[in-house]
Amino acid sequence: MSEKKLSRRKFLGRATCAVGGIGAVSAVYPAVASLAPDKNALAQSIAKFDIRKLKEEFKLVSVPYKQKPLFIMKFPKNYTPEKWGGQAKESINYKIFKPLLAKQNNVIAVVGVCTHLGCIPIWEKNGGKNGIPIYYCPCHGGVYTPWGDNISGPPPIPLHIPEQKLVGNILIAGPKEIR
Ligand code: FES
Repeated sequence: MSEKKLSRRKFLGRATCAVGGIGAVSAVYPAVASLAPDKNALAQSIAKFDIRKLKEEFKLVSVPYKQKPLFIMKFPKNYTPEKWGGQAKESINYKIFKPLLAKQNNVIAVVGVCTHLGCIPIWEKNGGKNGIPIYYCPCHGGVYTPWGDNISGPPPIPLHIPEQKLVGNILIAGPKEIR
């Protein structure tokens, strides 16, 4: 075979590979792009709330978050679990919330869905033992502390906590849960 024919063959071979490569990329790209999170879906999985609307401590505000209620509340300054009878001194949620309270101007958010069978707990400011504030789940009598730790009844774990941060006066929660 002449050198001219050989080099033409090489050229055609390489050109075919290049076209094939482009074809493969354009076939794969839409599939990969469809795996990226949709902007609208992402926006709906984040809750934003202006904390200046919280005029009173211990007044519950509920906002939508992933088609569930998100409970947002301002806690009293220098609050400690002992003020609630020490029921949850070593609690799971409290350990997460303690550093967040200072960073978020004493405002925190928990997912308002009972971890037993998914009912929506009710905020009772004086509903606990000795008038302590609690979340009470009316379905089977589950009781949670104000920061969402389960202290009585069938709930197996505390209320879930979305990742959250304060940007200016806006509390941004989601899109993931930190526990
Ligand atoms: S669903 Fe809340 S205690 Fe059962």
